[in-house]
Amino acid sequence: VSEAFLDTLAAIVGPAHVLCQPADMLPFLTDWRGQRRGSALAVVRPGQMTEVAAVLRAAGAAGVAVLPQGGNTGLAYGTLDTGPGQRIILSLGRMDRIRALDPVGLTMEVEAGCILHTVRQAALAAGRQFPVSLAAEGSATIGGIIAANAGGVNVLRHGMTRALVLGLEVVLADGTVLHGLRALRKDNAGYDWKHWFIGSEGTLGVVTAATLRLLPRPRHTMVALLAVADPAAALALLVLAQEELGDAISAFELMAGSSLALVERHFGLAAPIAPAPWFVLMEAQASLPGLAEATDSVLATALERGHAGDGVVAASDAQAQRLWSLREHITLAEAREGASIKHDIAVPVPAMPGFLAEASAAVERAFPGARLNPFGHLGDGNIHFNVLAPPGTDAAAVNDLVHGLVIASGGSISAEHGIGRYRKAALLAMRSPAEIAMMARLRAALDPGGVLNPGAVFD
Ligand code: MLT
Ligand code: ZN
Repeated sequence: VSEAFLDTLAAIVGPAHVLCQPADMLPFLTDWRGQRRGSALAVVRPGQMTEVAAVLRAAGAAGVAVLPQGGNTGLAYGTLDTGPGQRIILSLGRMDRIRALDPVGLTMEVEAGCILHTVRQAALAAGRQFPVSLAAEGSATIGGIIAANAGGVNVLRHGMTRALVLGLEVVLADGTVLHGLRALRKDNAGYDWKHWFIGSEGTLGVVTAATLRLLPRPRHTMVALLAVADPAAALALLVLAQEELGDAISAFELMAGSSLALVERHFGLAAPIAPAPWFVLMEAQASLPGLAEATDSVLATALERGHAGDGVVAASDAQAQRLWSLREHITLAEAREGASIKHDIAVPVPAMPGFLAEASAAVERAFPGARLNPFGHLGDGNIHFNVLAPPGTDAAAVNDLVHGLVIASGGSISAEHGIGRYRKAALLAMRSPAEIAMMARLRAALDPGGVLNPGAVFD
């Protein structure tokens, strides 16, 4: 069965694009942190949407599962599986064209395998902006960020990926193609079905192309790094900044002093201000003049009121880049430090200081020797409450403790990374049986044969 099936795949995409050798498949079957290895019959790399449809039909007929994959930068093992049954990885990386950019309509049509950084650069080159931005944007693909409904550092102002997708081209499990690449801002004709696929983690259909929403490119950007005493002071700073700068605030990131210490240890990148218990990285963008003056006045007030102890404002693009690079290296530094137990939690913004204090104390009490690496998107109420625990620590027990406090705070156990195969148990703990049953009915309706990414999100 396998030989005949592989021949069929080779006939569809060309033999060069069906990888079967272990060494060739390895990068597609290992997560970038090196924590998990998947298995597959083959990695299949289609070059166009019709090939995706043909691969899905062939897989369905052969009873082989299909795991769609973008840049393989995820943190929830969404496309890595070792369970029973046969499977292939469907890697969309060859479908990487920017098909069109409309600077007047503020839209861009791109294929799923296009790298996020490439999309962002193309928009900037046209004097426009695609605001989804995250540390992995040099490898993450548009299809992957749509399947994950990725967040990143600009959610505060621009929303999650969902808010920036106008239309999708999707292939269903049975090979049916949904042509929905519409560039309309307003379209209430029937169900807005694109939203079923955004954030579906490759379980409902394969996104092959998207029409993205662009914005004008802001003329002025201000980036500042501030030392703060604790998360409550950071929150007071956020409120002040939002009152004074309004929606010009595009990013408001909180980082523990211990997070920046990891970045310095592993990458030699140091903050240009003295060590502190916590830091805030704040960015504001505007096209009208006056941003620099308004920001200076916010920072002066923050220092005066004691919300911040010290701070630096980037005086050039290069300096802004250096401040951002401190933030962007935290996850990499954490991976170099050793195994970590990740959390991607959200709580209502005002509840965050209390949650961080309570969760930190509880983890340190229950798991002696555990070190905390909390950082992330305070402006969105989303912190990566990561724990560097001594070898042998029961990771599931750490997850249960943290997630219990999250749920008690009215929060979410997955703010932006998705469920994948890592947080399936936690999902069941925070969604009602009725909600899970409804999700299962939708999944069964779109993929009755269970071809697409079985084992992901829920069983
Ligand atoms: C980030 O905000 O840098 C990420 O979502 C990654 C992480 O949780 O490590
Ligand atoms: Zn994040």
